[in-house]
Amino acid sequence: MNQEYEPEATRRHASATESSQASRGWWDRNADEYQSEHGAFLGDDRFVWGPEGLDEERAGLLGPAEGLKGRRILEIGAGAAQCARWLAAQGAHPVALDLSHRQLQHALRIGDAADGTAAGGVELVEADAGALPFRDGAFDMACSAYGAIPFVADPVRVLREVRRVLRPGGRFVFSVTHPIRWAFPDEPGPEGLSVAASYFDRTPYVEQDESGRAVYVEHHRTVGDRVRDVVAAGFRLVDLVEPEWPDENTQEWGGWSPLRGYLIPGTAIFVCVAE
Ligand SMILES: C[S@@+](CC[C@H](N)C(=O)[O-])C[C@H]1O[C@@H](n2cnc3c(N)ncnc32)[C@H](O)[C@@H]1O
Repeated sequence: MNQEYEPEATRRHASATESSQASRGWWDRNADEYQSEHGAFLGDDRFVWGPEGLDEERAGLLGPAEGLKGRRILEIGAGAAQCARWLAAQGAHPVALDLSHRQLQHALRIGDAADGTAAGGVELVEADAGALPFRDGAFDMACSAYGAIPFVADPVRVLREVRRVLRPGGRFVFSVTHPIRWAFPDEPGPEGLSVAASYFDRTPYVEQDESGRAVYVEHHRTVGDRVRDVVAAGFRLVDLVEPEWPDENTQEWGGWSPLRGYLIPGTAIFVCVAE
């Protein structure tokens, strides 16, 4: 970690404001490391849903690629906007939103390198997913690969915001850590295979500095919670995809590994339609 103190990991309450401030700071400080560690796996303009490596080209969760042409698509928690660049390559008009300035600087850097235009045909917006700076119905679709939702205290607020800026019938597809993973230590090896905590304990995971200030926060929801959140926000859930670990993927990503991937799901992808 790119900071002087060694944060203490704990489970405790974290408010919406504290979570948002922690995320902004953490991703600004760690964007360089995240992109240098995972950038090659993500690819500059692939749309990867999670560490299993399932990509949108194969999965088609936003619908057939031909149907993306001309669509206005919002990506939340876009990081360096790899997914949005893939959407742009299909002829869509993507907007990549993230609360981390440093992540978006990586989007500019990669966009520049890929085709000479800033951000590779993707509009970049620095904002919190809990307060989207767009008019009602501005987008045809929305997506998020592990962006924003796992890090916010009030996911229904984010989902309602996404619902608001989508036209009726518009799809929102988002991936998060599979909720079952919360019951296991976040370790790629055999120690990550034994249940160590209650799946039903929603107390957030918090890393805090010496003064007790949160510097990293993740929030846990069970599968049932996520389904209820999606419905409460005005979506219909049409699929819940649990990508299986493919033989050809030998790469570890934090606690995601082939060993664990063969045995327990690591990613949950919610496919939702705005009612
Ligand atoms: C795990 S990264 C995923 C980035 C990208 N989607 C990818 O697949 O590499 C999570 C991203 O969510 C962003 N994020 C976290 N909380 C957010 C919030 N409240 N609003 C917008 N973005 C947020 C972080 O800044 C970070 O870029």
